[in-house]
Amino acid sequence: MAERVAWITGGGSGLGRATALRLVKDGWTVAVSARTEADLQELAASSDAQGKIHAYPCDVSDREGMAETADRIEREVGPIDLAFLSAGIYIPFGLDDFSAEKLETMFRVNVGGVANAIEAVMPRFRSRDAGRLVVVSSFTQYRGLCRTAGYGSTKAALLSICETLRLQTQDTGITVQIVVPGYIETRMTAKAPFPLPGIISAEDAAERSVAGMKTEDFEILMPKDIVDEVRRARLMPSEEYFKMAAVTPLFGGTPTD
Ligand SMILES: NC(=O)c1ccc[n+]([C@@H]2O[C@H](COP(=O)([O-])OP(=O)(O)OC[C@H]3O[C@@H](n4cnc5c(N)ncnc54)[C@H](OP(=O)(O)O)[C@@H]3O)[C@@H](O)[C@H]2O)c1
Repeated sequence: MAERVAWITGGGSGLGRATALRLVKDGWTVAVSARTEADLQELAASSDAQGKIHAYPCDVSDREGMAETADRIEREVGPIDLAFLSAGIYIPFGLDDFSAEKLETMFRVNVGGVANAIEAVMPRFRSRDAGRLVVVSSFTQYRGLCRTAGYGSTKAALLSICETLRLQTQDTGITVQIVVPGYIETRMTAKAPFPLPGIISAEDAAERSVAGMKTEDFEILMPKDIVDEVRRARLMPSEEYFKMAAVTPLFGGTPTD
């Protein structure tokens, strides 16, 4: 059995992949999940994985599949100490093409996928009174930004879920944390048709995530200054916020986006 075991969803690419490789450097054994098995196998076979990354393909929106995956990881690799939930999708739409279908799809993956993972690992953490649950959200969780009516609402839901779980676990051996990135260079941002202020590499984001996971901080902000600007805007009166956000690049673009 491996000494420290992490389960990373969205481990086939971007932040999840970079975090898997970074954890291996710290001696972790990592089970990675995503839908595209080829990405996971390529990662597991890479020399940097040192034979310590194992592929567990799974769609996070498949509740039974997620429960079975957690079961297999614990049987084949060892008890899960850390769940790093990075799987997520971004499907943009604006005012004139508002899409209930796109919003529902994002909720199924971004929120439903996280819920399925929590349902799969929390009883295990509770029975051992140990474990770290780390949910990857976004700075869009804090306020309504342009282009994020769907995506941002899924991330706001994650903040609410994590705040509650953090409250509920505060006298236990379980730690709940939320990773709050601004922009990261990944497949998700590769074709973004708008500026991405303060963008950082996936490796840098993984480094900051792993450093944050060595603390008991609830929020892991990256980069801190940019994300904190949006975080602080939570305290602004709404009318003042709308005027400021409409003309500040970090908050958006045009009001119909
Ligand atoms: N990039 C940014 O600027 C940015 C900013 C803030 C927050 N984030 C958040 O960071 C997280 C990671 O995103 P990223 O930037 O690293 O994007 P990415 O490179 O597109 O990686 C997303 C990963 O999630 C997996 N995934 C997507 N749908 C899935 C599903 N239904 N079941 C299982 N796995 C699924 C993808 O693999 P498959 O498609 O093969 O399943 C992929 O491995 C996301 O939660 C995202 O919202 C990103």
